Amino acid sequence: MVEGQYGTTSNLAARGALHARYATRDWFGWVHERVALRDGEAVLDIGCGAGWLWDRPGLPEVTLTLADRSPAMVEAALGRAQVAEKTGAVADAEALGFAAGQFDAILALHMAYHLAEPAEALAQMAPLLAEGGRLALSVNATGNLGALWEIAAECLGLPPMDPSVAVFSDIAAEAALVAAFGQVERHDYADLYVVSEPEPLVAYLSSLPEAQEAGADATPAIRAAVDAALERGPLELPRRSALFVARG
Ligand SMILES: C[S@@+](CC[C@H](N)C(=O)[O-])C[C@H]1O[C@@H](n2cnc3c(N)ncnc32)[C@H](O)[C@@H]1O
Repeated sequence: MVEGQYGTTSNLAARGALHARYATRDWFGWVHERVALRDGEAVLDIGCGAGWLWDRPGLPEVTLTLADRSPAMVEAALGRAQVAEKTGAVADAEALGFAAGQFDAILALHMAYHLAEPAEALAQMAPLLAEGGRLALSVNATGNLGALWEIAAECLGLPPMDPSVAVFSDIAAEAALVAAFGQVERHDYADLYVVSEPEPLVAYLSSLPEAQEAGADATPAIRAAVDAALERGPLELPRRSALFVARG
């Protein structure tokens, strides 16, 4: 998955572009407000992707470790993060080699559904937190991008729901964190994207693993399904995510 899907930043960027184009709210700013990092804290962002969370001025002066299984993501995140004290690490969230008690905060945003055993991996992060430290985990929630998955079902043969929710839903994530940490705060995030242009949808669908495997052969079917959906009017896509903050 990581090598094929995240070997470069382009698939993630195609999906991020849909959010950037149509979001009416600032997801990453919302996450920062809730995690409330402080100057001097040691922070691990595991599955950091292209580092979009850190691409803003005025962040607290944390000591940041940007970690991802994909070297290309680590490099992109290091280039983007507007934090003075930052290091990169190519690391697997299921086998983290950090010392116990090393971090005041661990962030795992929209990545746990890629893990073979997400609940176990989250439990193994708990000892890495210093006393009073917190783990912030986000996942997509039920209903996320609803009608987009109906189009994906038509042109790529996927089940008509967000595949990440099918693998590790908000409900499963909450249960895993309660089991590992005892207590967890849940914050729900909602937005509505009103999409009338085909290109961001075509790019999003073309970035999915199933489309990538089919290569150029998938493009005509994706375009036809997107055009047919937009002929009925703008698509209203709910964005649904959940952010959990668990304390060590
Ligand atoms: C959907 S992206 C999310 C990126 C970023 N956290 C964000 O919210 O924008 C998922 C990221 O998790 C990374 N990833 C997948 N499996 C991983 C693993 N086992 N360990 C570390 N990173 C992983 C991928 O390479 C990718 O960069």
